[in-house]
Amino acid sequence: MSNDLVIIGGGPGGYNCAIRAGQLGLKTAIVESRGKLGGTCLNVGCIPSKALLHASEYYEAALKTFPSMGVKITGLSLDLPQMLKQKDDAVDGLTKGVEFLMKKNKVDYVKGAGRIVAAGRVEVTAADGAKQVLETKNIVIATGSVPTELPGIAIDEEQIVTSTGALMLQRVPGKMIVIGAGVIGLELGSVWRRLGADVTVVEFLDKITPTMDAEISTAFQRILKKQGMKFELGHKVSRVEKTDSGLVVTIEPAKGGPARTLETDVVLVAIGRKPFTTNLGLETAGVRFDQRGFIETSHFKTNVDGIYAIGDCTYGPMLAHKAEEEGIAVAQVIAGKWGHVNYDVIPNVIYTDPEVASVGRTEEELKAAGVSYKVGKFPMIANSRARTNHETEGLVKLLEDSATQRVVGAHLIGSGAGELIGEICVAMEFGASAEDIARTCHAHPTMSEAIREAAKGVDGWLMQA
Ligand code: FAD
Ligand code: NAI
Repeated sequence: MSNDLVIIGGGPGGYNCAIRAGQLGLKTAIVESRGKLGGTCLNVGCIPSKALLHASEYYEAALKTFPSMGVKITGLSLDLPQMLKQKDDAVDGLTKGVEFLMKKNKVDYVKGAGRIVAAGRVEVTAADGAKQVLETKNIVIATGSVPTELPGIAIDEEQIVTSTGALMLQRVPGKMIVIGAGVIGLELGSVWRRLGADVTVVEFLDKITPTMDAEISTAFQRILKKQGMKFELGHKVSRVEKTDSGLVVTIEPAKGGPARTLETDVVLVAIGRKPFTTNLGLETAGVRFDQRGFIETSHFKTNVDGIYAIGDCTYGPMLAHKAEEEGIAVAQVIAGKWGHVNYDVIPNVIYTDPEVASVGRTEEELKAAGVSYKVGKFPMIANSRARTNHETEGLVKLLEDSATQRVVGAHLIGSGAGELIGEICVAMEFGASAEDIARTCHAHPTMSEAIREAAKGVDGWLMQA
């Protein structure tokens, strides 16, 4: 029997699309080649990285912060195999959970690689080579992304690794060089630094996390440096050579100048990700994609009727929750309902310690757009909960459009910032002003009071600093 919808790719875009389509009564199949649902996010991305970040944060806190809080531990040591196992357990549990959700919502899970042979026909090749063709009214492409490689630097996932290899190193490297001061480099660099590696981050541009609000990026780098992470900004890696004792990395100033070499045990290449659309039959089906491989869409629709694309394989931030939003919206559209994603309110979180979270516009973007705005800031050191928790690094920065009196951006560094940003997302969706936040009662003592204080700061009545 023909399907209403076949989704190619079982990541957060694909599986959330499948759940919503199932809820809306569409006869739906999801095709996944990895052997497990959950995509990059659950298998080699968000979830395993957060499991290691959480565990390594505890380890470092036990070493460095516990004694000052009167908690003494003798004989503290790292059990890396157990740390890796608890990460794998988290992944296993969650991928099985997604499989359960497919059953619950009557979605057929088809294992194998999907290829569009024509609009309305998806050929699936199973691991053993067996083929079947799924007939369908609609196709959603949700095939995600893969790491960008550096020309001339061969990945072996043991010594020269992408994020995938960096999530499963069997020993703590003495030295690690991270290429790219983006989200992956700083999160996974932090994991291995906390566990004992000497980590140097080489970044092409002259700032870390280049798209972040500049003031926050500078403050973030200062914190990471204080923690012991080293930086070679404005540099590029031109060569990585394997030697008997490890790796020799050649770096050069991005603007030209003499090259230098650095010795290391592991190199993590984290210079971005690219859409994955290989062997998908896009050319045969006539689906347009750009030079970088991103599938071109307008409101999730490709140029071919009945074929849609969502998540990392199309435009926008490469984030699990963006893929999820698009998955839900496209299922609604296919079911003949309203489907919309507000790209102005997609939060971004870097799960370091402290966390860095942002939503909306940066100060630089507002200036460039000629928008007149007001700023409110509050340092975490003045927040009572941050002080009692020994978590005083960071600040809250809130931006309000002066003309509309709406909050248009928020940028936070602080413990739990990834949770705190949710409040601002809700406020922005409801078109709140800073005053709306400032006049909302927040529990004391909580880190969220820092947001309220920054909101008061927008209107010039900061009280606690
Ligand atoms: P994917 O998750 O990439 O899923 C696509 C799936 O399609 C894959 O499983 C693939 O096997 C399958 N597939 C591809 N081609 C075919 C085919 N022809 N047939 C069948 N199946 C196919 N984002 C966050 O929001 N928060 C985070 O904390 C976060 N941490 C990350 C950490 C790391 C180390 C990495 C690498 C990424 C992280 N991301 C994070 C990004 C996040 O993982 C992606 O944005 C998200 O997974 C994109 O979802 P997707 O559904 O578009 O694609
Ligand atoms: P990124 O785009 O965040 O950062 C890449 C960095 O590498 C940039 O700073 C860039 O200037 C630099 N760079 C590029 N080429 C270089 C070169 N040749 N030499 C030195 N530096 C170079 O990409 P990253 O960190 O690989 O992550 C990919 C994507 O995965 C992110 O864009 C993000 O969307 C997603 N992700 C999200 C996470 C989260 O939400 N917490 C965690 C991890 C990944």
